[in-house]
Amino acid sequence: MEPMSKSFYVTTPIYYVNDAPHIGHAYTTVAGDVIARWHRQRGESVLFLTGTDEHGTKVQLKAEDNDVTPTQWVDRLVSDFWRPVLDTIDAKPDEFIRTTEERHRRGVQYFWEILKDKGFVYPAQYEGPYCIGCEEFKFPADLLPGKKDGEQLCAIHQRPVEMLEEENWFFKLSEFTDPLLDYYQLNPETIGPRSAYNEVVAFIRGGLEDISMSRSSVRWGVPLPWDEDQVVYVWFDALLNYLTAIGYGDSGKSELFETTWPADVHLVGKDILRFHAVYWPAMLMAAELPLPKQVFAHGWLLVGGEKMSKSKLTGIAPEQITDFFGSDAFRYYFLRAINFGSDGSFSWEDMRSRYTAELANGLGNLASRSAAMIGKYFDGELPAPSGYTNTDLSLQDHLANCTADADAAMLTLDFSKALAEIRSFVDAVNGYVTAEQPWVLAKDPEQRPRLATVLYTIADCLRAIAVLYHPVMPQATEILWESLGGPEALGPLADQDVTDLGWEVLPPGTAITKTEPLFPRLPEESDGEGTA
Ligand code: MSP
Repeated sequence: MEPMSKSFYVTTPIYYVNDAPHIGHAYTTVAGDVIARWHRQRGESVLFLTGTDEHGTKVQLKAEDNDVTPTQWVDRLVSDFWRPVLDTIDAKPDEFIRTTEERHRRGVQYFWEILKDKGFVYPAQYEGPYCIGCEEFKFPADLLPGKKDGEQLCAIHQRPVEMLEEENWFFKLSEFTDPLLDYYQLNPETIGPRSAYNEVVAFIRGGLEDISMSRSSVRWGVPLPWDEDQVVYVWFDALLNYLTAIGYGDSGKSELFETTWPADVHLVGKDILRFHAVYWPAMLMAAELPLPKQVFAHGWLLVGGEKMSKSKLTGIAPEQITDFFGSDAFRYYFLRAINFGSDGSFSWEDMRSRYTAELANGLGNLASRSAAMIGKYFDGELPAPSGYTNTDLSLQDHLANCTADADAAMLTLDFSKALAEIRSFVDAVNGYVTAEQPWVLAKDPEQRPRLATVLYTIADCLRAIAVLYHPVMPQATEILWESLGGPEALGPLADQDVTDLGWEVLPPGTAITKTEPLFPRLPEESDGEGTA
């Protein structure tokens, strides 16, 4: 029997449910969704996973503060916020995992039992600083001096760390210093961007120490199968979601697991790189499972130069932006304006100006003018082209080049470049309209064949633009597709191949209709304005 081909597997981190999502969380999910849709439109089978990280001290304390049980708290947060935010940003994961689900708990226990049987887990005393915000044991280099005498702060949260002293179970991380270094030296592309790779390698070179993998003071977690008084340390529970969501569990590996693992890319924020590029591969090596093909660390959305966060009250809820600009513009803006891998700031003004220039004027007008001209000059029926000039053919070349470049950029997660490539084509088509002046051609009956070619060319270019932008802006492109008669002529937009756009694809005779604007004009003022 033919082995089943492997799916492209992309994941986001699973989010802590101590609070509602802000745009920093939505940013990672949008990136994952765009990559998933892009690969699907390359004809690949794809599994896109996201979910929620529900155990640990942070969540337990939050539930206590709100006088509810942890279960009540997480159920409420997930159903009121974390699932609905997916609709807000139009993300469509194939799987949503919650770490409180039975399939996950089983898989976590199964995994750690194996590691213990293999001799990678032993009991020992732990004493050291812990940051509840990060849910992480800290090293001296991770800490800053506080204001009070002897106080130490977590460098990420700028909050005092706790001193913990516990009898724990330890994972023999130290055994993986050399295997990880060897692996990364041979496979530098497995961590992106390059700066993240360098950071990880420098950290491992410093030598890895064994690390506590359980907690005795915490109740809210997955109990160790061999010691019910302890729960698995929340990170060593959470990371396993990438396996448990695809069928890894006590009954062994399922077919889904076999055709999905290893992950092609784990998208993570730079603050959680060490967990994904040091601890996680060490755990997988210990379990003799293949390592993810890539971990990519993106930057932070900043407010006033600092990481946006709910706890610092700088979090902007995604709907504050989508209610005003729509989900397509949200998706487009963050991937276009910020280099994936670098930090960036959200500015209401910048978003408004890109919306107007790049989306409403750049693409929206092109689409509505073209449909209006085909309506006016050809009764809404797409004319057949009749012989191409060099100008037409250069547009064809431009499309072929920008498609190849956009694809290459998407595959390396350079969203900003991919979007710039597609936009350069939109600009070229706008330039073509200006240069060819169809409204002038329309005045001369002898130019009718040329008018037909020009309008056909524009419509077929719009067809290609709809296909290329679909993974990023699913809604506007769907309206454009309708307007071009795409569904009847060519089938669903999501089935169109982004790597093979072709030329002269839209059949002449197709009914072209004027639809609602792709990007409505923005109101002058908004309630949300000034919140950023
Ligand atoms: N639960 C862990 C992840 C476990 S994955 C096995 C966690 N959760 S988190 O909710 O705190 O963060 C989830 C993701 O959101 C991280 O990738 C983090 O970098 C990202 N972001 C949180 N704030 C952010 C910004 N201000 N900007 C960009 N991303 C940010 O860590």
